[in-house]
Amino acid sequence: MAYPYQIQSLEEYKTAYQKSVEDPEGFWAGVASDFQWRKGWDKVLEWNFKEPKVEWFINGKLNITENCIDRHLQELGDKPAIIWEPNNPEDRVRVVTYNRLHKRVCQVAQMLRNNGVKKGDRVCIYMGMVPELVYAVLGCARIGAIHSVVFGGFSAQSIADRLEDAKAEFIITADGAFRGEKVIPLKNVIDDALIGNKTVKKVIVYTRTRIPVSMFKGRDIWWEDEMEYAETQVEKEGVVSFPAEEMDAEDPLFILYTSGSTGKPKGVVHTCGGYMVWTAYTFVNTFQYKRGEVFFCTADIGWITGHSYIVYGPLAAGATEVMFEGIPTWPDAGRFWDIVDKHKVNILYTAPTAIRSLMGFGLKPLEGKDLSSLKVLGTVGEPINEEAWNWYDEHIGKKKCPIVDTWWQTETGGILITNLAGVTPAKPSWATLPMPGVQPVLVDENGKEIEGSPASGNLCIKAPWPSILRTTYGDHERCRQTYFSAYENLYFTGDGALRDEEGNYRITGRVDDVLNVSGHRIGTAEVENAINMHSDVVESAVVGYPHDIKGQGIYAYVICSHIRGSEEETRKNILQTVSRIIGPIAKPDKIQFVPGLPKTRSGKIMRRILRKIAEGESNFGDTTTLLDPGVVEEIAKGKL
Ligand code: WTA
Repeated sequence: MAYPYQIQSLEEYKTAYQKSVEDPEGFWAGVASDFQWRKGWDKVLEWNFKEPKVEWFINGKLNITENCIDRHLQELGDKPAIIWEPNNPEDRVRVVTYNRLHKRVCQVAQMLRNNGVKKGDRVCIYMGMVPELVYAVLGCARIGAIHSVVFGGFSAQSIADRLEDAKAEFIITADGAFRGEKVIPLKNVIDDALIGNKTVKKVIVYTRTRIPVSMFKGRDIWWEDEMEYAETQVEKEGVVSFPAEEMDAEDPLFILYTSGSTGKPKGVVHTCGGYMVWTAYTFVNTFQYKRGEVFFCTADIGWITGHSYIVYGPLAAGATEVMFEGIPTWPDAGRFWDIVDKHKVNILYTAPTAIRSLMGFGLKPLEGKDLSSLKVLGTVGEPINEEAWNWYDEHIGKKKCPIVDTWWQTETGGILITNLAGVTPAKPSWATLPMPGVQPVLVDENGKEIEGSPASGNLCIKAPWPSILRTTYGDHERCRQTYFSAYENLYFTGDGALRDEEGNYRITGRVDDVLNVSGHRIGTAEVENAINMHSDVVESAVVGYPHDIKGQGIYAYVICSHIRGSEEETRKNILQTVSRIIGPIAKPDKIQFVPGLPKTRSGKIMRRILRKIAEGESNFGDTTTLLDPGVVEEIAKGKL
């Protein structure tokens, strides 16, 4: 069954696109009317990119969990919402029906209320990929608390920074998380993060791994006990209910921290109404989802992809999806394909880095895998190179599955540029055409729009779509400066792009100091700050370089006051420092000790030159403006 707002042909795409640009309010009112609102909106859209201020579905009232759960119950109550595949393939699969999801989310909402959580309070969630994570997220949304999920790979220090920035009073976590052969001691990390913290009142701990944890009296409580008690409150004579909080369309739904070009991560804020409409609309149209199909997004809910295409988009569309706890290479590199066969997955959405890493294992892990259930493949998070695209097409899709290359960002809330599976044409390594409602423009260095094609420039968007970020938490000025000040009246993405004669876009990568390592966003300044925490380090500069599997690797040039023991030991110590401060994902792939850094007379590090050295180039361009041009030769000689 198709959805009322589903685009089913190229002609329909063109018509929808045109209408969305000529009459955005009429267009989005039409789409939004397919959702459940407690009260309709007075006006569809008000905006300016100066402040910036963007409001969609003004004065509309809703609760997103009623749209993701309650309204499906009559028709889909017994149908699976989530098919959960555990880390260990021998363990039991859990199938969560919409009825069960409803009950659990009501219990979580009740549990949160019992513990004093109110509308607008910030709840930090730090868990592995278990269904309880989805219950926790939706439980917050049900009572109007603002969730802030932190990826399980971030360090105690990173969590501490986020807790402080969000002034979070509550945490939901687990004793630990399974990832392949590893057990991540989540609760221990939380304990470290809470040293010195003054705002957090309660920590709810779900039991997953049964590793030893310490529970602090008055602060830490067990999920199981609380949920059991909440069950007696929400279920009466077999009827489950927990009235959802009525939210304004523009009330914040969540905060998600992401890296930028400056020091500390920013809390991107998304709101209830527009985000709901956009995630469902783009989910259905990009993947051409039809009721009953099985969708599998391999992302972690700690990132925006998991928020939009595991939690909100698919559930708002009443979809059935696979949620996977583990990693693609354990017990072996055929795990994704086993999951596809076991659960008859129809749509697979993953990252180029995963494809490249699995490609590296050759075709052996694919032997005996059927994969015939697959209809649509998708990628997200970074540019996909043609080699990976072709491998995905040939060996996974067997040349019969359209591949959607979806470009978007934490700040955009959902997919902005992509082909629509089987509906608009694909072009390997091109994200292709904008979604209805999205008006991309390319601008040159001076902020002038580049008209005509082919063209290349910085990618901006001209007008708001329903799930554009509204602010960065606690610091609106930072939001303005980062996204709306580079070019007047435009949202600046931070990405560079090409445009061809057909109007297709190809994203070439970040043009700012943000790295994309295995699809994870990491700011160079963040890594430098972490490296500089090491007591022997005087200064450092971090750049990206091309990496076969990760897309980009992290190359750090480090000046040390002295080296204790061997260079190898110091390298190890620096890596450990970075792990401690940010998390293992930010560890540099290469550390080169250098006597100095190329700086301009005003003291600015010339990263352009450092990038060239890291890439192995020998032509560094003009170095005459450098304070000490000799240092470049010296660094180049010592290149790793
Ligand atoms: C990059 C992830 C090329 C881009 C959803 C963007 C991509 C950053 C693609 C956002 C793609 C994402 N092709 N590049 N299909 N998708 N990117 O916030 O540089 O984690 O700015 O959101 O990833 O990363 P984020």
